[in-house]
Amino acid sequence: MTSSQDPKRAMRDAPRSVLSLAPDAHRLTGRVAFVTGAGRGAGRAHARLLGARGAAVAAVDIDTDAAAAVAAEIIAAGGRALALGLDITDAAADAAAIEATARELGGLDILVHNAGLMYSMTGLEQTDLADFDRLIAVNVHGPLHLTRAALPWLRRSRAPRVIFINSQWGQVPDGHSYGYMVAKAAQLGLMKTLAKEFTPEGILVNAITPGAILTRMVPAEYIEAEQKNIPLGRLAHPEDIAYAVAFLASDESAFIAGQTLAVNGGALVVGI
Ligand SMILES: NC(=O)c1ccc[n+]([C@@H]2O[C@H](COP(=O)([O-])OP(=O)(O)OC[C@H]3O[C@@H](n4cnc5c(N)ncnc54)[C@H](O)[C@@H]3O)[C@@H](O)[C@H]2O)c1
Repeated sequence: MTSSQDPKRAMRDAPRSVLSLAPDAHRLTGRVAFVTGAGRGAGRAHARLLGARGAAVAAVDIDTDAAAAVAAEIIAAGGRALALGLDITDAAADAAAIEATARELGGLDILVHNAGLMYSMTGLEQTDLADFDRLIAVNVHGPLHLTRAALPWLRRSRAPRVIFINSQWGQVPDGHSYGYMVAKAAQLGLMKTLAKEFTPEGILVNAITPGAILTRMVPAEYIEAEQKNIPLGRLAHPEDIAYAVAFLASDESAFIAGQTLAVNGGALVVGI
């Protein structure tokens, strides 16, 4: 029996043949990415890096001016981009934004669910239910509507990706914000459920679970305390998370589905 007739041998050889088919795997030329919460913070870094790697980027944010500024930065750097003002909790607007992106940029390959917000709620009795509902709407309803609207385009993509920017607090509650932790835990459930349904179609759904990032979401007075919990001794820069997004968006992540990638300076290794 030759190696080409032996199914076990053929499987062992698979990674090498995939690599030889994708010598330029880290590039994203020809892909279209839709990044929510792209107007500032980590989302701005994801949008700019995906644009720099060659993807056409829809920079999406509830803050229309901020989205426009980021799209302009990508274009000024030689890339292709579109700015969209969107509250992702509005299902009809989500569908329209996906259609506008696919029409103007030529399809949709990479969906990055990054938009988020934080309300301080330190315990059950202090939890404001309207704020709690908003956290669930932004972290769960928005990604659900957007993913559903994007499905026809993802099905046509050669390398479809759905990437959630979750949080280590979605896995290990820390006591800061009740609603935030519950919403991020629910979002991880959505990620896994989507992965279960769509991995057989080749649509790869994964999450990144960052630790604290230096963005407006972390108030200045928390930075020193957060730093003490991180073995690398610093908070993440937005770019630290963006590099993981670019990896999950690329051909190099072709065998990763339904997983969470921790980008947290080693925090959970030693406990937090
Ligand atoms: N900063 C951290 O320490 C940290 C840690 C772990 C995970 N995260 C996650 O990373 C993601 C990015 O957070 P960040 O730190 O850059 O925060 P940020 O507050 O700087 O940026 C969040 C962006 O999301 C946008 N946004 C909020 N609600 C929206 C909506 N309904 N529709 C569209 N856009 C909306 C905001 O306008 C803003 O531009 C979030 O999902 C957050 O939960 C952040």
